[in-house]
Amino acid sequence: MSTRVLFLGGAGMIGSAAAAEAVARGIDLTVVTRTEPRRELPDEVRQLRGDVRDIDALTAIVGDDQYDSVVNWIGFSPQDLAGHPELFAARSAQYVFISTCSVYGRPVPQLPITESSPRRQPVFGYAKEKIECELLLEEAYREGALPLTIVRPFHTYDRTAIPILSGWTAIERMRAGLGTVVHGDGTSLWTLMHSSDFARAFVPLLGNGHAIGESVNVVSGDILTWDQIHLALATAAGVRNPTLVHRSSESIATEYPAWGEVLEHDFRHSMLFDTGKLKQLVPDFAPRVSLAQGAREIVEYHEADASRQRTNAELAAAFDRLIARP
Ligand SMILES: NC(=O)c1ccc[n+]([C@@H]2O[C@H](COP(=O)([O-])OP(=O)(O)OC[C@H]3O[C@@H](n4cnc5c(N)ncnc54)[C@H](OP(=O)(O)O)[C@@H]3O)[C@@H](O)[C@H]2O)c1
Repeated sequence: MSTRVLFLGGAGMIGSAAAAEAVARGIDLTVVTRTEPRRELPDEVRQLRGDVRDIDALTAIVGDDQYDSVVNWIGFSPQDLAGHPELFAARSAQYVFISTCSVYGRPVPQLPITESSPRRQPVFGYAKEKIECELLLEEAYREGALPLTIVRPFHTYDRTAIPILSGWTAIERMRAGLGTVVHGDGTSLWTLMHSSDFARAFVPLLGNGHAIGESVNVVSGDILTWDQIHLALATAAGVRNPTLVHRSSESIATEYPAWGEVLEHDFRHSMLFDTGKLKQLVPDFAPRVSLAQGAREIVEYHEADASRQRTNAELAAAFDRLIARP
């Protein structure tokens, strides 16, 4: 009998990639979304509609069905999880919570990051609330019968998601021969993963008894500097020698306050991971999509429809000011 899996959410960027991979591996998959999914799901997926943050609606949707694994893609605060431990302890052999590697405190006291690196975030709301979710579910695992696995993706992208804060504004400026601002001196380290690689690493964790009680960083071992990330996008966009202009995160935040928090608490810090636990649980996994290939897909996707090439005039003006003053 095939593994029965229920996705709560799961029609977004990484969820839909995981759905395609799960079906390709013969998993019997049901996906619950509020509305018609914006991303395509394979025909084999059984689709249900409902608000999974409404525990009464969710209880009615699940009914008496039993699953080998339930994956919650859309838990962002403890309120989103109300009633889940009780409901799924009785309905599933595994409850997978999709968290984030943003839970790890910055600056990271010791690199590389492992699953036991300290979780800490006093300010940045997204990470702070993900930590609260993890703690609530861990307590349910310790005290009760919730067969919990915590999965922490890091920065995952696909053709729709340009993995730099400046997005298409940077591509357009590079093509026009204008400077593009990169935080710090462009050498801090970052880890990117294509959503299809995430899916290949993630799906084998479903129904995997060895993953119960564990938290797992589902990340690639592909470590890049921010300059390399910008250069890969430039190459894909046909620009050979883009002008990358380095400015401190503080200077950037002064000229463009919208980036202040994300630079301070996230992007300015080097983030690289020990992938030992993932390798132990999913020994066959190896990433297949290089950033060079991913960047080509990104440029092709955006060039196929001009409405996807969204630029930000305010950001471009901030870049001009930052470049004008050394
Ligand atoms: N992408 C990254 O780099 C990254 C990194 C770290 C962690 N993560 C984690 O990955 C998860 C997101 O994965 P994803 O982007 O692939 O999204 P996803 O969960 O696969 O997509 C969201 C889907 O869930 C539906 N949905 C939203 N709220 C709902 C509700 N209350 N009831 C039922 N359906 C609902 C959405 O439909 P509607 O159209 O109705 O909203 C959409 O179809 C998050 O937990 C995030 O923290 C992502």
